[in-house]
Amino acid sequence: INIPKFQEDLITWFEREQRTLPWRENQDPYRVWVSEIMLQQTKVDTVIPYFQNFMKHFPTLEALANADEQEVLKAWEGLGYYSRARNLQSAVKEVVAHYDANVPDVPKELDRLKGVGPYTKGAILSIAFDQPEPAIDGNVMRVLSRILRIEEDIAKAKTRKTFETVVRELISHENPSAFNQGMMELGALICTPKSPSCLLCPIQGHCRAYHDGVEQTLPIKTKK
Ligand code: ADE
Repeated sequence: INIPKFQEDLITWFEREQRTLPWRENQDPYRVWVSEIMLQQTKVDTVIPYFQNFMKHFPTLEALANADEQEVLKAWEGLGYYSRARNLQSAVKEVVAHYDANVPDVPKELDRLKGVGPYTKGAILSIAFDQPEPAIDGNVMRVLSRILRIEEDIAKAKTRKTFETVVRELISHENPSAFNQGMMELGALICTPKSPSCLLCPIQGHCRAYHDGVEQTLPIKTKK
């Protein structure tokens, strides 16, 4: 794979075709954080109105830290997985207390925050802070498994490490945010689970699975 050309094709497509989404209005780390937590178990179309309403009620990290838990849970009502909301508020209080209300831009510090796992950490570092860190979720694993024809089982916990290593080699240092969001957007719009639209894909020419005609067989996922 020609890495610079791949990065350029992905990022150019993303800049042209990305959806207008409320959390893409700016790089505010608090907004990026809230959006990535909401998006973890919930579809984009469902998240949009919840995100808008949440930002109306809790426009800043401090507003969220100072809110009543019941108010926060009420704004989360219907999204499900309510521990996401409780962990988020708890972590936000931690950021106010220990980091003067500034979201940390250091991996080890983000690791200590409740509800911030490797994916959310990578999303915050790349999208809000322009750092070349991997943000690996199921969609990104599907896209990458096809591009590079990676035949490891994505149901296995240790497979994430493989993808992190791969992204560290591929990610644009010029624009890590557009690279990671471009991968997510490709997974959402083109490189879908059932019938990927390879003929419309901006990186078709870089895709090993398309070349070999095996895109429908990837990713490999046992159990469930
Ligand atoms: N899914 C997870 N994070 C996302 C983002 N930032 N934009 C669109 N879809 C996403």
